[in-house]
Amino acid sequence: MKFFLDTANIEEIKRVNRLGLVDGVTTNPTIIAREGRDFEEVIKEICSIVEGPVSAEVIGTTTEEMVKEARELAKWADNVVVKIPMTEAGLEAVNILSKEGIKTNVTLIFTVAQGLMAAKAGATYISPFVGRLDDIGTNGMDLIHGLKTVLDNYGYETEIITASVRSLAHVEEAAIAGADIATIPGSLFPKLWSHPLTDKGIAQFLEDWKSVPKKD
Ligand code: E4P
Repeated sequence: MKFFLDTANIEEIKRVNRLGLVDGVTTNPTIIAREGRDFEEVIKEICSIVEGPVSAEVIGTTTEEMVKEARELAKWADNVVVKIPMTEAGLEAVNILSKEGIKTNVTLIFTVAQGLMAAKAGATYISPFVGRLDDIGTNGMDLIHGLKTVLDNYGYETEIITASVRSLAHVEEAAIAGADIATIPGSLFPKLWSHPLTDKGIAQFLEDWKSVPKKD
């Protein structure tokens, strides 16, 4: 399974990247706004740190606007992936961009049908939002299971990025469901390698070690 970092914070990216765990980065306009920095500058900096795909989202709402922005974003670095919202205009843009070899990540996917449409239009990645589905009282993970089955049924190469991840359980279940990728907020990532019983065990071992007789 690949792990993407769902952040534009350079310190968070560097911390997890030092462990060799970062296969890519995803951003959206909200994540970019949080950093209070120029969009182009921050995406280029992330692309210089991380070798894998870095998603940068378009703001335009018409096909023409999205395609124009996407062509510009794709020039910023070789590993830029253009994030396109799941709309009719977005699907048309994805269809055009895929024929030009520009990689796309279709975002704001909430149903299996939307994921299937995006894959058929030529999306490199799709981003189903599990947390936001949980927020409205449904089970977001059902969508990951459904998409995995449908994309496998028809042999699509489009990769599933489990997005809007809020918990360790989301990551574990996405892996069990066979999602290609989970994109994980910087604040959640350390919970993947931590456990209170691990910390307690280390403290106990260090304490007990004090009573082991030592040579001078
Ligand atoms: C990533 O591609 C998504 O934009 C992000 O995971 C959304 O997360 P949120 O629902 O917590 O805002």
